Amino acid sequence: MKYNFDIKMERRGTNCEKWDFLEEAFGKKDLLALWVADMDFPAPPEVLDALHKKIDEGALGYPIAPDSLLKAITDWQDVRHGWKIGKETVTWAPGVVAGLAFSIMAYTKPGDGVIIQTPVYPPFYAIISESGRRIVKNPLKRANGRYVMDLEGLEKLVTPICRTLILCSPHNPVARVWTREELEALSELAERKDMIIISDEIHQDLVYSDAKHISIAALSDEMSSRTVTFVAPSKTFNIAGMNSSVALIPDDKLRARYVSVLKRLHLSSLSILGLTAMETAYGKCAGWLDELMAYLEENRNLTEKFVREWMPKAKMDHPEGTYIFWIDFRGYGFDSEKLMDLLVNEAGVALNNGRNFGTEGDGFARINIGTNREMLKEALEKIAKALEAKF
Ligand SMILES: Cc1ncc(COP(=O)(O)O)c(C=O)c1O
Repeated sequence: MKYNFDIKMERRGTNCEKWDFLEEAFGKKDLLALWVADMDFPAPPEVLDALHKKIDEGALGYPIAPDSLLKAITDWQDVRHGWKIGKETVTWAPGVVAGLAFSIMAYTKPGDGVIIQTPVYPPFYAIISESGRRIVKNPLKRANGRYVMDLEGLEKLVTPICRTLILCSPHNPVARVWTREELEALSELAERKDMIIISDEIHQDLVYSDAKHISIAALSDEMSSRTVTFVAPSKTFNIAGMNSSVALIPDDKLRARYVSVLKRLHLSSLSILGLTAMETAYGKCAGWLDELMAYLEENRNLTEKFVREWMPKAKMDHPEGTYIFWIDFRGYGFDSEKLMDLLVNEAGVALNNGRNFGTEGDGFARINIGTNREMLKEALEKIAKALEAKF
């Protein structure tokens, strides 16, 4: 191994949300933080070197996005995900959530419905309602011990004024990596009902060895012409604070509508350091990512085994991707309030309250395993101990 992920990184006092905002979010400072979706690892050394070099140049004025950056982005999609796209496909977003919000402005009108598949990442709700559109829920359903999309439910919801779906792929918080068959079934419906798919693929690179990520836009020319895909180096390389994300829009008309929103808001350009970090991450850090995924996969296996053995009334589906996993604590008779009270005040850990992901999340919590293994074990043991003391 070239990189060390067992590192104990002190993040308190670095103005990071995960560790320096605990008191505001949970009412207590002294907690193990396994909530906000970033990892307790430094960014790849190659990225840090490139940033140092950029700063040493001294010139931090307005940047351009060079061809070498566009090539790094399109090569990444080709090599890692088998999706061949031209550089004209690439446009920007300061963050993926911002890009989703711009897409809602670009492709829908006030009063239109926008469909989300719940439970899902909380900002999906906010960006729809805050833009005066209607949240239309198509809850995920259970089949064969895992979450799946409810396509029959979806079919009933799609109308001419409710034909935009925000797809979360892989899905936060249920850690599903949608299969080719699932995406093809969704595509069939999308084509038949003339839908627009806004595909949030921020977790596309964080997929375990027993799953494979497929971009829905890559399935066919037809799908690439009705899909807007968001990717970013932010989760993959742990550089979310760089605020630099990518919108991939092969269709000229869809791209023009998105770009017109960027222009209207004067947000067409990213920061010079963000662009530098992105080019280096996609261009030079594949090896770092492979080692990260091997480390996270062991963390996943450990977490799965631990929950099964030491939290007998809790349930966690086999996570296929992401480093944020969804644990069902309802077997202990918890609603979210009681669950959060136990986690914070008895176990001393900060997990995300499942209720924030939708009503379906009552009695669930989301755990972030993107940390050194020793701390992960300590946190799991604290939770198991608190459960044991109570039950
Ligand atoms: C599905 C999903 N989309 C978007 C984001 C955040 O993206 P950004 O910080 O680029 O807005 C996250 C972060 O956890 C996420 O899980």
